[in-house]
Amino acid sequence: MDALRILLVEDSEDDADLILAELLDLGMAIDSRRVDTEAAMRKALAESRWDLVISDFNLPRFSAAAALSVLQAAGQDLPFIIVSGFIGEETAVEMMKAGAHDFVMKNKLARLAAAIARELREAELRGAHRLAQQELLDSRERLQDLTTHLQTVREEERTRIARELHDELGQMLTALKMDVVWLKSRTPESEAGLMNKTSAMAALIDATLDAVRSIAADLRPVMLDDLGVRAAVEWLLEDFSKRYGINYALEMSLDDYPLDDPRATAAFRVVQECLTNVARHAQAGHVVVVMSHRDGELSVSVRDDGKGLEPSGDRRRNRYGLMGIRERAAHFGGSMKIVSAPNEGTLIEVRLPQTSVRETGQ
Ligand SMILES: Nc1ncnc2c1ncn2[C@@H]1O[C@H](COP(=O)(O)OP(=O)(O)O)[C@@H](O)[C@H]1O
Ligand SMILES: [Mg+2]
Repeated sequence: MDALRILLVEDSEDDADLILAELLDLGMAIDSRRVDTEAAMRKALAESRWDLVISDFNLPRFSAAAALSVLQAAGQDLPFIIVSGFIGEETAVEMMKAGAHDFVMKNKLARLAAAIARELREAELRGAHRLAQQELLDSRERLQDLTTHLQTVREEERTRIARELHDELGQMLTALKMDVVWLKSRTPESEAGLMNKTSAMAALIDATLDAVRSIAADLRPVMLDDLGVRAAVEWLLEDFSKRYGINYALEMSLDDYPLDDPRATAAFRVVQECLTNVARHAQAGHVVVVMSHRDGELSVSVRDDGKGLEPSGDRRRNRYGLMGIRERAAHFGGSMKIVSAPNEGTLIEVRLPQTSVRETGQ
């Protein structure tokens, strides 16, 4: 096992020896250095790694309080034990509040070994806790990156498939339709059977075209790319209103707010997810969608007049809609707010800052 590395803040060589003799009880090899000024302590902390600090209370040119500040300023969470002649209870309490870990009287040095053993264990626990917390933060960040990546990839894939459906399949079907119309125009009136067949084919091609367009639009409305978020949201609301018989109002005051593609897509997907929820859960008669900006922040909100969220909060795990909205917002360094009360409807508001640390940091 490595030697225990002790930094002694002590002006008296004799006292230092007494302390070190006491530590033989720990049964460990000890590596120590004695310092008695602030500069020397700083240097020792910068030069080597220490396991703990044992400090005298009053030194001619230094003190335990000052030594503790130096240690804290160095950002090192080491056990700090004060060994001193008499110090009053109040002073001791003050030092403990400031962050000293223990206090041992010079005439009761026998206690020191046990105090050190305990503080080392605690320091180790604190270290493990810090590590676990850091790991948790790291894994949270990786999860956020993965979510963003998945959302982006999915969006790109949808855009590509929607384009191909719309353009390729759409064009082929249109060509086919023209051929059928041509065929029909060349069919003699007397051929009732042929006539009916070509009419039915033309109708089927029309229906297929409609289906292709609507599947493509569901994947990703082409107008989001071609005409912008306003047209896309209007289309979404119109379609939603027709499908579910829910009235809507759209307030959009984006003026010439510079909305980039990622934010436009995020805003659109937020509205889409909220409307899906209104249709599925809210039993609402009316929705209001507001898109505006303030202080450079884009705000997107969807309010319904339905039954409201369950007060207890639905804690089932596979509720990915709201979670997805929250993650989207977090990606831009923004936030999601939910305001809801039973039978008083639900308001979901998402704020997206114009520039985010996460994005620019990538
Ligand atoms: N507008 C709303 N009105 C009432 N309840 C809602 C509304 N939006 C969401 N909820 C509730 O919140 C839950 C979580 O929503 P969400 O995360 O989108 O998951 P999902 O829609 O798949 O259930 C829903 O199951 C529903 O109970
Ligand atoms: Mg949902």
